[in-house]
Amino acid sequence: MRILMMAAVAMALAMPVAAHDDDHGQPPWQGASAWPDRIVATFEGDPATSFAVSWRTAANVAVTRAEIALATPDARIDLVGRSVPAVTERVDLGTLVNNGRVIPIKANDTLPAVAYHSVRFDGLKPDTLYAYRVQGSDGHWSEWFQTRTAPTAGPIRFIYMGDAQNGVLSLWSRTIRAAFMAAPDARFMLHAGDLVNRGSRDVEWADWFKAGGFLHAMIPAIPVAGNHEYDMSDPADAMRRRMLSHLWRPQFRLPVDAALPASVQETAYVVHYSADLDVFVLDTNQPDLTPQAQWLDAQLQASKARWRIVTMHHPVFSSGGDRDNKAGRDLLLPILNKHSVDLVLQGHDHTYARGLLDAAAQAPRRTGFKVGDTLTTMFVNSVSGPKQYQFRKQGWDDYAPTGVKLERQGENGQFFQVIGIDGNRLSYTAYTADGVQYDAAVIEKRGNAKRLVKQENTAPPTRRFDNTLPYKSPDF
Ligand SMILES: [Fe+2]
Repeated sequence: MRILMMAAVAMALAMPVAAHDDDHGQPPWQGASAWPDRIVATFEGDPATSFAVSWRTAANVAVTRAEIALATPDARIDLVGRSVPAVTERVDLGTLVNNGRVIPIKANDTLPAVAYHSVRFDGLKPDTLYAYRVQGSDGHWSEWFQTRTAPTAGPIRFIYMGDAQNGVLSLWSRTIRAAFMAAPDARFMLHAGDLVNRGSRDVEWADWFKAGGFLHAMIPAIPVAGNHEYDMSDPADAMRRRMLSHLWRPQFRLPVDAALPASVQETAYVVHYSADLDVFVLDTNQPDLTPQAQWLDAQLQASKARWRIVTMHHPVFSSGGDRDNKAGRDLLLPILNKHSVDLVLQGHDHTYARGLLDAAAQAPRRTGFKVGDTLTTMFVNSVSGPKQYQFRKQGWDDYAPTGVKLERQGENGQFFQVIGIDGNRLSYTAYTADGVQYDAAVIEKRGNAKRLVKQENTAPPTRRFDNTLPYKSPDF
């Protein structure tokens, strides 16, 4: 009996304790083991010749590696894999480290330490299919994942999604899977922030990785940090400034740019995808966006890509509730205008909004854009998860003096977008999670001039709370 009781106590001590009142417990598949899991590909260097991969294991895996081979049809590509040593980092899930201080996330947390590993595969050929696998402890290998490097130029498609944030496994999973069905050839998936609700909660990332499964490993991610990835503060900091989740940098291997402040390393970066496309990622959670604005200005000035896309979490033109990000807009809009940025992809407002801007317009725009009209920038706010807000009452009418016009809006829907770049054409299509097209626009570029050459924004009818299923805010 006594032995049994001791065993029960030992088991109870070994069991992870729910850290928050609203935790839904820790499903058994989320515990780290000798096997690699949470495998995600990203870009750190030149996407034509390299890609990065991060994964997780139990903390006792201190040294490990990955392998890569050309994805030929031969049955035994595993015999010719090139070995690449991993960089390993131990992460204590119950604490975070800030300026060398170890801070408990929650006093009664008994969450374990885990190990994050990453590699960068270099020296690859452009537009070529590779197969790779990653290892946990010796002999504990993942399956082989196939990933295609970027072309130096030429047509590509990619997926963009707004906030996943809540019910990530139960309700967001259908969106990312529908996105893959709509664009199985997508070269990357751009997540415009608030990937989870509380970025420091390991169990939410467990949901994110299970929802996307092998898609995260196969299609590189371009993750944007949202306000929900900044969910902790140092109790010793009188200002209680929020800090980036301790899981972000270990689990996404992303570019480090010495021209940016340390606080935004791996949350602000540029992906020079090809001669046709540069993607600039901003971290709009910072109290002062000036250093990033200056960096963006210089980056855009130097950019030689045919199409330039900027992505950030907080929208330049808000669409949710009574929101407005005036300071960010005042700082960033002149830079976007100056360089005639083509597309701005955002999240945060839990609504669907797409608008076109013609910065050259002399008067506030009163009517929508028609096919043939010139424009400078297309702005999109989107949401891929189940949390939904009411659309901003005045729409974008008060933004009209900037030259922007709202072309399509939506409430109470989960969306994803497929964006194609093909020479002088950019095609944009928004879908709802059932795979039905909700909105589309095609832009053509001639020299510095851009024209709207196609727009489909009337069917299906505008989604509103009063013409869709009853909604209840998710409490998960
Ligand atoms: Fe947000």
